[in-house]
Amino acid sequence: MQEHYCFSGFMGKRVHLGVSGSIAAFKALEILRLLQTADLNVSATLTRSAQKFVTGLSFEALGASPVYTGMFDKDGDGQESPFGHLDPGDLCDALLVAPASATTMARLAYGLGDDMLSCQALAFPRPRIVVPAMNPRMWNAPATKRNWQMLKELGYICIEPDSGGVACGEEGKGRFPEYEEIIPVVLRAVSPQDLAGKKVLVTLGPTRERWDAVRFWSNPSSGVMGACMAMAAWLRGADVTVVAGPTSLKFHSGIKVMPVQTALEMYEACHDVWPDMDMVCCTAAVADYRPIPHGDKKFKKAASQEGLTVGFDTNPDILKSLGESRREGQRLIGFAAETSDCRKEAQRKLEKKNLDLIACNRIDKDGSGFGVPTNQVFVLDREGRKEQWPPLRKTEVAWRLWDHLLLV
Ligand code: CTP
Repeated sequence: MQEHYCFSGFMGKRVHLGVSGSIAAFKALEILRLLQTADLNVSATLTRSAQKFVTGLSFEALGASPVYTGMFDKDGDGQESPFGHLDPGDLCDALLVAPASATTMARLAYGLGDDMLSCQALAFPRPRIVVPAMNPRMWNAPATKRNWQMLKELGYICIEPDSGGVACGEEGKGRFPEYEEIIPVVLRAVSPQDLAGKKVLVTLGPTRERWDAVRFWSNPSSGVMGACMAMAAWLRGADVTVVAGPTSLKFHSGIKVMPVQTALEMYEACHDVWPDMDMVCCTAAVADYRPIPHGDKKFKKAASQEGLTVGFDTNPDILKSLGESRREGQRLIGFAAETSDCRKEAQRKLEKKNLDLIACNRIDKDGSGFGVPTNQVFVLDREGRKEQWPPLRKTEVAWRLWDHLLLV
């Protein structure tokens, strides 16, 4: 998974994983592993059909506990477990049914209780997520469509299947979705929703300032820190919009993305949406200057005998302009990329840009700054609180920064 999906620290939370009969059942093993990577405890139920594709032993071997394989299972001591159908509802924070076959979808939609998983789903009082996988003709059948609609009406969190080639060789909608689409939905279901109802804008990545038909002025920002800020806010319930310079990152479908290339485009995009936002976090490494364009054609080296001088125009400071136009209640987080004087620069930029919070990172130290999964930041807020954090995963830095903003 890409770095900005690798959130962890959900210790003490439990997810119950329901697996039903689909060729995608083997992918539930990877789902189990990814949930464990987030420090979640996972229990599981395999329907009878699921056990034609994968075994309960596989899930047990990977650490799921307990694993139910039938309505009248024995527990670890060889005793019949009379309340196995109720235990997930008592103990777990979310139920994830992945993959959900057409039959399992129908069972859940109609509230049947004729196998262990359907009973557990009926008795589950917290978020229930369903991820179908099946042949495209089965997915498009009117009965499946109706069941899907019923599940939505019943309050299930429904993740649409993907389109493309499926195991039987046909093409169409019905593929099991990407892990990166599923895991964040589960993490959101078990996260505190302390940013629910908030509209959050995040800028990220570099900008690219064109000079001629093939050359541009830019920097090595990968956009990962901003993507972590965006994802952390989304997991905590926010409605998130990202204004993204050119990056190779893929974003979760829950996040709105406005792609831009230049600082001027980023400025326009941010100001278009800013009046409606509650919070902004600017992580983008915006080029402060743009080369005065040479023209639409490729510059030929023969045109310059002795070196080359390029002139630059000044780009607007996007964050500063947002800070100047902020209305009552709007909150701003800035970043500062420095090679020295982090504390002094953080103070100067916090004041100059009218921010609530600034995170200053050294870009010349190992394990901090551009292109690495960790960051070491000095944090300063407008009430004068200062903290020097140790090197942390960017996901963790992001989580803590939202925590900190909520305190200011
Ligand atoms: N920023 C911005 N628009 C710019 C420059 C910076 O929105 N044209 C934002 C960055 O996203 C970051 C903060 O301002 O949140 C600080 O950026 P940084 O590059 O550290 O500082 P600068 O303001 O460019 O100042 P300097 O070049 O003097 O370090």
